[in-house]
Amino acid sequence: MSERTLVLVKPDGVARGLVGEVLSRIERKGFTLVALELRTLDRATAESHYGEHAEKPFFGELVDFITSGPLLAAVIEGREAISSWRTMMGATDPAKAAPGTIRGDLATVMSENVSHGSDSPESAAREIALFFPHL
Ligand code: CMP
Repeated sequence: MSERTLVLVKPDGVARGLVGEVLSRIERKGFTLVALELRTLDRATAESHYGEHAEKPFFGELVDFITSGPLLAAVIEGREAISSWRTMMGATDPAKAAPGTIRGDLATVMSENVSHGSDSPESAAREIALFFPHL
């Protein structure tokens, strides 16, 4: 089934010059780019985006990091885009992410893991509406 999902290239990925690499993988895979924007998040938007992690011990650090500089937000579309994009990113912990995945190939640190993808249809709908309310 064709789906849409939210993709972020986090501030570490933008600062390291990995936007082209991530977009290239999305395009080569065959997903359609529906929306694309470079922006720096304010704390309220970041706290809303990561609301499900509000009780976690690393929440403050997570919000500090995601608001620390510009990120790339995108909506991509294609067959099983939500799970397929998460497979392309690899495990959340880059040390455990398989070679060939974005995190497996390009990151070492849990918090600076280059990219984000929605984890379910409900999260995708919520996150897309937060970043791109016109869609
Ligand atoms: P993401 O998929 O964007 O969703 C939540 C983020 O929290 C996750 O990627 C990691 O970057 C971060 N995260 C998860 N677990 C930890 C942790 N134990 N310490 C710091 N950051 C974490």
